[in-house]
Amino acid sequence: MVQILTAFVFVATFLHVSYGVEWPFDITTISAPDGSITAKFVSFGATMTELWVKDKFGNARDIILGYDDNSELLTDPAHPVFNPIVGRYANRIKNGTFSIPITQNAQPDGPNVYHIPTNDHDGQDTLHGGIYGWDRRNWTIVSKTKTSVTYHHLDAADEGFPGNVSAFATHTVENGGILKTTVHATATELTPLMLTQHIYWNLDAFQGSQDILSHHLHVDSSKVVAVDSNAVPTGDFIDVADTPFDFRTTKKIGDAWNSTVGLCGDGCQGFDSCWIYDHDESAKPGVTLWSDVSGIKLDITTENPAVQVYTAFWLNTPRKVVHGGPSLNYTKWTAVAIEQEGYIDAINTPEWGVDQIYGPGKDYSWSSTYKFSTVH
Ligand SMILES: *[C@@H]1O[C@H](CO)[C@@H](O)[C@H](O)[C@H]1NC(C)=O
Ligand SMILES: *[C@@H]1O[C@H](CO)[C@@H](O)[C@H](O)[C@H]1NC(C)=O
Ligand SMILES: *[C@@H]1O[C@H](CO)[C@@H](O)[C@H](O)[C@H]1NC(C)=O
Ligand SMILES: *[C@@H]1O[C@H](CO)[C@@H](O)[C@H](O)[C@H]1NC(C)=O
Ligand SMILES: *[C@@H]1O[C@H](CO)[C@@H](O)[C@H](O)[C@H]1NC(C)=O
Repeated sequence: MVQILTAFVFVATFLHVSYGVEWPFDITTISAPDGSITAKFVSFGATMTELWVKDKFGNARDIILGYDDNSELLTDPAHPVFNPIVGRYANRIKNGTFSIPITQNAQPDGPNVYHIPTNDHDGQDTLHGGIYGWDRRNWTIVSKTKTSVTYHHLDAADEGFPGNVSAFATHTVENGGILKTTVHATATELTPLMLTQHIYWNLDAFQGSQDILSHHLHVDSSKVVAVDSNAVPTGDFIDVADTPFDFRTTKKIGDAWNSTVGLCGDGCQGFDSCWIYDHDESAKPGVTLWSDVSGIKLDITTENPAVQVYTAFWLNTPRKVVHGGPSLNYTKWTAVAIEQEGYIDAINTPEWGVDQIYGPGKDYSWSSTYKFSTVH
């Protein structure tokens, strides 16, 4: 009996240890030497699965959403896109269609036209790179230290995009509560490239507060991309002055909440828009977010020209245990996704004059820095 029990415990322990840790769900942990920040990643999607920083009391909190079982990044039909690198083309592509060189209203039977499978708004557009975008691909580790990990992905003309793209994503932590992500991609043929890092934040980690409506937000932007009912750009911009989109002066996310009904689409309350940054140098934070409850403050600087802010109206996914799961779910506005990105669907909006076509001799890259501190 004892032997059977011992064998059972051994097998159970073995299963527990190996469960979910095989590639591509292998976990890599990086920590800054001063203990200010610890991040965990899986190869699948080069995805961040946990991010621990210290609150104003000196206690560490895991401030990003995710799963306890990371294989749900692949299998969860809701596909909320928890903290991966998104590509080859993030956000939406009108009717899944574009041409090279780009044209307005590219028709599927036109010259040099590409059609990507549509997966959003009942087939009216492509979201986040197609049916299986880079966030659901098996990246591989090419180098790793105690403070840094670099993943690689080869996209061999997947999802109908032209040419092969070889992409590297490096995540690094530094003393003083700093996380830095850099991406670099090369392509064998002319292709659109627009990558983002799709992180869902709750700076209280569901301790002392259950939503992000009282988080303070600053966005260094005076214009938002106007979109149609499929959330693809009309070509116009909205001046944020005298609208709920105005976060040039810091305010709580929920301050104009009653005025946000319908702003993120039909039947949706809150935000899901692309803000174009005013600054043309990346040294200044594009976004600042903090919570009085935890005192955790985040400053984001980036080389990207824009940012998508989504207050997660459609979310309904069991929480990690550390956030009170699995009986409680992540639901509407329990988190805010902040995605550093390019001008959305510029490949179908030639009037903007924004060039997102890369290829031989023209590499794609950016870096984003997340700096944590505390407010008292
Ligand atoms: C969208 O793409 C499909 C498939 O290629 C095509 O049949 C349809 O005409 C396109 N719709 C528009 C509005 O261009
Ligand atoms: C990625 O890994 C998953 C899980 O092991 C596997 O089911 C899938 O087939 C892999 N995808 C590719 C493209 O190799
Ligand atoms: C693209 O990738 C595929 C799969 O690895 C390979 O067979 C092909 O030779 C590559 N093409 C180019 C132009 O690099
Ligand atoms: C928002 O609307 C609700 C319900 O209509 C109302 O009770 C509340 O007072 C409003 N809040 C503000 C700040 O206007
Ligand atoms: C939590 O989310 C899961 C998956 O979407 C769903 O099946 C379940 O009903 C949700 N629970 C609640 C209480 O809404």
